[in-house]
Amino acid sequence: MEKITIAIDGYSSTGKSTIAKQLAKALGYIYVDTGAMYRAVTLYAMRQGYVTLDTNNTEALVGSLALINLKFVYNDQLGFAEIYLNDENVEREIRTMEVSKLVSKVATVGEVRKKLVHIQKQMGLEKGIVMDGRDIGTVVFPKAELKLFLTATPEKRATRRYKELLDKGEDVSYEEVLRNVEQRDYIDTHREISPLKKAEDAIIIDNSDMGLEEQFSRVFDFSKRVIDKQKKDVH
Ligand code: DC
Repeated sequence: MEKITIAIDGYSSTGKSTIAKQLAKALGYIYVDTGAMYRAVTLYAMRQGYVTLDTNNTEALVGSLALINLKFVYNDQLGFAEIYLNDENVEREIRTMEVSKLVSKVATVGEVRKKLVHIQKQMGLEKGIVMDGRDIGTVVFPKAELKLFLTATPEKRATRRYKELLDKGEDVSYEEVLRNVEQRDYIDTHREISPLKKAEDAIIIDNSDMGLEEQFSRVFDFSKRVIDKQKKDVH
């Protein structure tokens, strides 16, 4: 079967990773969560004291980028690859509210983006990949055969995220989560380098009032159509 590259971008907490994981599984593709990579770099910067709510020591972070080693290791039981920061599984730790509050700051640093985009492009060389993030269709894979752009109202997204955090036992308020969603939207769309924006050829999916099943069936249909077209074009 002809393999394609699928780029999924969109606002935070639009369920990009859920849909990307399902799609990758159904197609037998690799799934890469690029948000996890920015979060892991943020965790590193937090631990070193390079970034806090009031400070951002970009110089120190950039100076130590070579010491940050990221890798994904497939977890059979979970059915997806978990992220490792310098050989430590940080999949859980990168999802805390603390990291969420600082990650947009770290993601504005040009050298950080350069390093991560380079790794992401390498991962996609063989195609057969579903990658989600903010700049996948615009910067990482501008030639991706299928680009999706997920969106939903900030309130719907905050409600979903709030539930997830409560399930994980985090002590947060809905208002705090909503504020974080809105702040990240602002920073992600206004940063100078690779701001979040829809690629011209991306398909918009507003899932404010769409269940997971409907969403998956749409996205799967789009993928099959593109893959079938590729097959015809090749033969
Ligand atoms: O998808 P996420 O919420 O886990 O992403 C965390 C942050 O990382 C998000 O606020 C913006 C940043 N990010 C980015 O700038 N570029 C990407 N390709 C992926 C994430």
